[in-house]
Amino acid sequence: MTSRPDLEAETTTSAVPASENVAPEELTNTRKVFVRTYGCQMNVYDSERMTDVLAPEGFQATDDMEDADLVILNTCHIREKAAEKVYSELGRIRKVKEARSKSGKEMMVGVAGCVAQAEGEEISRRAPIVDLVVGPQSYHQLPELLSKARQGSKVVETEFDIDAKFNHLSANAEKPVLKRPPSAFLTVQEGCDKFCTFCVVPYTRGAEVSRSVAQIVTEAERMASAGVREVTLLGQNVNAFHGEAQDGTTWGLGKLLRRLSEIDGLDRLRYTTSHPRDMDDDLIDAHRDLKTLMPYLHLPVQSGSDKILKSMNRRHTRDDYFRLIDRIREATPDIALSGDFIVGFPGETDQDFEDTMDLIRRVEYGSAFSFKYSQRPGTPGATMDEQVPEDLKSERLAQLQALVSEQQKAFNASRLGMTCDVLLEKKGRNPGQLVGKSPWLQPVQLDAPESLIGSVQAVEIVEIGSNSLFGRLNAGQDERDDAGAIQAKAG
Ligand code: 5AD
Ligand code: SF4
Repeated sequence: MTSRPDLEAETTTSAVPASENVAPEELTNTRKVFVRTYGCQMNVYDSERMTDVLAPEGFQATDDMEDADLVILNTCHIREKAAEKVYSELGRIRKVKEARSKSGKEMMVGVAGCVAQAEGEEISRRAPIVDLVVGPQSYHQLPELLSKARQGSKVVETEFDIDAKFNHLSANAEKPVLKRPPSAFLTVQEGCDKFCTFCVVPYTRGAEVSRSVAQIVTEAERMASAGVREVTLLGQNVNAFHGEAQDGTTWGLGKLLRRLSEIDGLDRLRYTTSHPRDMDDDLIDAHRDLKTLMPYLHLPVQSGSDKILKSMNRRHTRDDYFRLIDRIREATPDIALSGDFIVGFPGETDQDFEDTMDLIRRVEYGSAFSFKYSQRPGTPGATMDEQVPEDLKSERLAQLQALVSEQQKAFNASRLGMTCDVLLEKKGRNPGQLVGKSPWLQPVQLDAPESLIGSVQAVEIVEIGSNSLFGRLNAGQDERDDAGAIQAKAG
C-alpha cells in the first residue's frame, strides 16, 4: 500500500448516475451534470448529494464532460498543490466550454468542496470561466445559486451553516429512491475541533457538528430499502459523534451503531475516520457485541514519537495508543487495524522516525496510509522551525511504506484457507466474475452469478493476490456458524 487512495487529489470519480437515485417523472426536460470528485469519502458522499439536489431541477449525471450543461469540480485541500491542480483542470475545461459554445451549447462551471472554501472569490478572479464557487457546507443551495449564476452574476457561497445543510438534505431524503449500489456512505458528522497542527480540516470544514439520530436513522432506513446492504458512517472525526436523540439525550457513536444494527436489510456497518482520543468503551464494546459491525478500524496515530505527537497537538502519547489497541484487540481479537502516518513533520529526527517504525512493528497493521508532511497555509505546522528536507521525507516514506506493505501482505496471507462472509458488490473485470469485500475491507474476486450482487455469501479464500484476495463460493454453508463468523480451514 502506498498512499491513501481516497485522498489522492489525482483520483477522480464521477457521482453515481442520478437515474439510479431519482424517480423517472423527475427526469423530464433533462440537462446533464458532470461531477468530478477529488479527495476523501466525504467528498464522494457530497457529490452524490449534489446530484440528488440537482435532480428535481432536471439534471441527470453524465460521465462525459463534453456532454455536460453543468460541470462541478468537488475539490480537496488536504495536501499540497490542490489549488494549482484545480486551476489547471479549469484551464482544460475552458477549452471544452469554448468548443460547446461554438456549437451553441451552454456549459456552466462550478467549483465546490474545500478548495472552494479556502480560495473563495479568488477562484472566479483567476478562472473567469467559473460561474459558481460553493463551499462544502452550502451545496444544498445549488439550485438557487445556479439560477443566480445564470442571471449573470458570479456566485460565491462559502457560509458555514452545517445544520441548515443537514436539515435540507434530510428533507430531500424523504423523496422516493429507486436503487442504489450495495455499499454506500452516510455522513453523520462533519468538521473537527481537534486542531492538529498539520491539518486544514478545522478551517475548511469548520467546527464539529453531528447530525441528529432521527435524521441518520431515516436516511439509513431509506438506503436499506433502496438495496444498500453496507453503510459506512462518515465524519472527519466520526467517533466524536454526539447526536441528539428524540428524547433530548445525546448519543455517542457506539449507541448509534447499536440502533442502526436493528435496521432490516443492513447487513454491515463501518465507520471512518476515528481519533484515538474519542475511542470510548461503548464503541469498543459495540465491536464486540454487534455482528453487523465489521472487524476493521481505521485509527490514525500519525507518529510514534511522543515529542512529535505533542507538537502535532494529537493530545495523547504512544503508550496511550498502545493501551487503546490492547483494549480493542481484547474486545475483538480478529480486528484489522489501519492507520495514517505523516513522515517529516517539522522537528522529526531520525530517532522520532525510528519511534514511528517501532510503533508500526508493535501494532502490526492490516493496512495503512502514509504521507510526506505538506505545509498547509494557515496551519501552525506551516510556520514551525526545523522543516524537514524533501529528500529525507521521501526516504523515510519509502522505508515506512515497505514495512507497512510487509505487514499488509502478512495480514492478507493469514486469510488463506479461511471461509468468510463477502458482500458481493459488482461485476469483475472478466466475464462471470464478481468483486466483493471481506469483513476486513479487502477486495475479493470470485466466479459467481450476477444475481448474487447485493448479497453476502460465504466464500473460501483460495489465493492471495497483491491487491486483492481470490475466493470460491462456499457450497458448504453448514461450515459457518449462525453468525457467519470466520472458520480457519485445515491446511
Ligand atoms: N501533510 C501530510 N499529510 C496530511 N494529512 C492531513 N494533513 C496533512 C498534511 N498537512 C493526512 C493525515 C490525515 C489524513 C487524512 O491526511 O495523515 O489522517
Ligand atoms: Fe485534521 Fe483529523 Fe486532526 Fe481533525 S483530528 S484536525 S480532521 S487530522
